Amino acid sequence: MSVSVKAPAKINLYLHVTGKRPDGYHLLDSLFAFAADGDVIAVEPAAELSLEIVGAPDLSAGEDNIVIKAARKLAAALGIEPNARIVLEKNLPIASGIGGGSTDAAAVLKALQLLWNKKLPDEKLYALALELGADVPSCLAGKAVQVSGVGEILTPAPKIPALPVVLVNPNKPVSTPAVFKTRKPVFSEPMPLTADCADADAFVAELKKRHNDLQDAACALEPAVAEVLKSLERQPLCLFSAMSGSGGTCFGLFRTPKDAAQACADLTANHPNWWVKQTALA
Ligand code: C5P
Repeated sequence: MSVSVKAPAKINLYLHVTGKRPDGYHLLDSLFAFAADGDVIAVEPAAELSLEIVGAPDLSAGEDNIVIKAARKLAAALGIEPNARIVLEKNLPIASGIGGGSTDAAAVLKALQLLWNKKLPDEKLYALALELGADVPSCLAGKAVQVSGVGEILTPAPKIPALPVVLVNPNKPVSTPAVFKTRKPVFSEPMPLTADCADADAFVAELKKRHNDLQDAACALEPAVAEVLKSLERQPLCLFSAMSGSGGTCFGLFRTPKDAAQACADLTANHPNWWVKQTALA
């Protein structure tokens, strides 16, 4: 038996840093959404734990990989041996602000519970997810959520439209701790979306009132991120663009798949070294 689970890209449609805890972690207010595309985790029975990565030759498949850490933590919490062969199909860029490791960790927690036919109670599962990383609980939720705290307080998001998206990464990794360290120590008010926004124009109007508080720091650390943002802003059919998470991936929202495809073609032609991916909000 083999179990395959999608690990969709996460997109921070806005991200306000609202405070800082004494332990150095930042308090956030963010709308997390998920894309129709991402990595894929497949697991099958085996005599021991192993991880094979397809599509990312530079990514370590050792004990430091968050997927292995997630598998070991889950098995320990369930009181069983972490025996499984895990294959990670890596389609998302590494260290790029769209979930990467967090979404893979969440997917492996889901896949292994199915493979081992054992379930951790939700409260324990979400606590374990948070130990793996601040974004793992929201990736476990897998659908649009308003996130606060350092990433552990999840509230279902109001309805948002399934708009076409273009994701653009300059193929330069951006370090999350470095971005948090570089940002100016000013804080924004939380502005969670409270009403349904099924209509594209109303949704975009709401997003335009918000921003990503990590964007300036990421652009300062990696000027290619600023180039990506400029290129998205220049797309005539783009309704809204911003950076996701701590960068460097930025996203553009479009009214139709055709509009997104046109922007994708233009960005790919002008920037052959960038990772450009058309998808949609799931
Ligand atoms: O939890 P995760 O491994 O994703 O966080 C990476 C780093 O990003 C943390 O070590 C911390 O420096 C910073 N961070 C933060 N506040 C958050 C999330 C991450 O300061 N809410």
